[in-house]
Amino acid sequence: METSTINITDIICQAYHYIDPRLNSHGERVAYILMEMFKDKSQFSPQEKQNIFMLGLLHDIGAYKEAEIDSMLSFDQNDSLEHSVFGYLLFQTFSPLKEYANVILYHHHCNAQYYSVPISDYHRKLARILYLADRIDIFCQFNDSRHLLPFLEGYRDSIFASSDIQWFQNADNAYHILDALHSGSYRNELSEYMSTLTFTEAEIHDFLLLFIFAIDFRSEYSALHTAYAVQISQKLAKELHFSGTSCKIAELSTLLHNIGKISLPSFAKSSKDYDAYLKNIYSDSTQEITKKILTGNVPEPILETIHQSFFILDHWKQEKPLNFSPTPVAEVVALSCFLSNTLSLDSDLDMAHHESLLSFLHNKYRNCAMSDKILSSLERQYQQVIHEVKISCSSLSNTYKHMMNEYHSLNVVLLHYNQKYL
Ligand SMILES: [Fe+2]
Ligand SMILES: [Fe+2]
Repeated sequence: METSTINITDIICQAYHYIDPRLNSHGERVAYILMEMFKDKSQFSPQEKQNIFMLGLLHDIGAYKEAEIDSMLSFDQNDSLEHSVFGYLLFQTFSPLKEYANVILYHHHCNAQYYSVPISDYHRKLARILYLADRIDIFCQFNDSRHLLPFLEGYRDSIFASSDIQWFQNADNAYHILDALHSGSYRNELSEYMSTLTFTEAEIHDFLLLFIFAIDFRSEYSALHTAYAVQISQKLAKELHFSGTSCKIAELSTLLHNIGKISLPSFAKSSKDYDAYLKNIYSDSTQEITKKILTGNVPEPILETIHQSFFILDHWKQEKPLNFSPTPVAEVVALSCFLSNTLSLDSDLDMAHHESLLSFLHNKYRNCAMSDKILSSLERQYQQVIHEVKISCSSLSNTYKHMMNEYHSLNVVLLHYNQKYL
């Protein structure tokens, strides 16, 4: 089971279909515009073009908070700093394209003086082109594309460089970018291009983490959910002496098990909200979206494992006997998700909880007529597993806290600025 069999770009494109309808597929359209603009630029290597394509696809990775989507769609020049900063922090921490994080930071014509980091002329130019592609797509989503050029003209030499507008016009004349966006035929060209991209195993893994953490980081309650679950599944798989392939299936299934939650509104200001959110995560409709995003993009055993693990969780919830024997891998994934949710709700889980949690699980196993072999093995190692998971996730937890501190202090700066000048 190689990570390279995972189609990372299509997973991202598919997932984008389920976020806020106003942003539906925005990332892939921006990536497409960039792909066409850079197509015949021989001074850029194929690898460079691929990196720029990925920047287009992921440029709004910091925008899964609702307020951000409102501001991103505006043409106010004071707009969108928060999602640029959040995206920059995510990119810099998790992405395999860390050195491009500053392009994400400056991808709007925003007040970057509030959060300035060094940027080379080359990256500043990329940020400018990215912003042009972004505005072209947003404009064409809400207006007749015949009015695009007069609109761009209005910003010539203020927001957009003359040469960049010309560059886009030339590319549009050559490749009919706007027509392809309008008709939807751009998707075929996009798929064709995406099938030529090459990623290392580590790059695919890091892009997946970036994408999943961008979703989880929408709330402090869900921030560590996937990270905890993955760590627990790895520890249990090792404990149970799974084969290398089974370990990988357990890890990837846990990592991807509820990618469909991208479709849920960002939420959770309290643990009560998180409880309601958990119910939605495990609802049939969210599971269905997870399946649609992953089908054809991950090996079949991963889909099957996710499916079985949700089935187990559902039977635990309803306390009805399982009518099939789940694979040990699926059982490990279900246990990992369950324990991770418990950890997310109570970060100071200790011995007192240990007893009641395990008797709760034993009860579920009994009522669902499941063999408790794996559960018993977990029971023996429970404290050790949870202890190691917490240590493994502590640096991620610190990263999350750092990102939120940066994000909040930026909001305070902006609030003062707005009170003073607006
Ligand atoms: Fe943006
Ligand atoms: Fe955008």
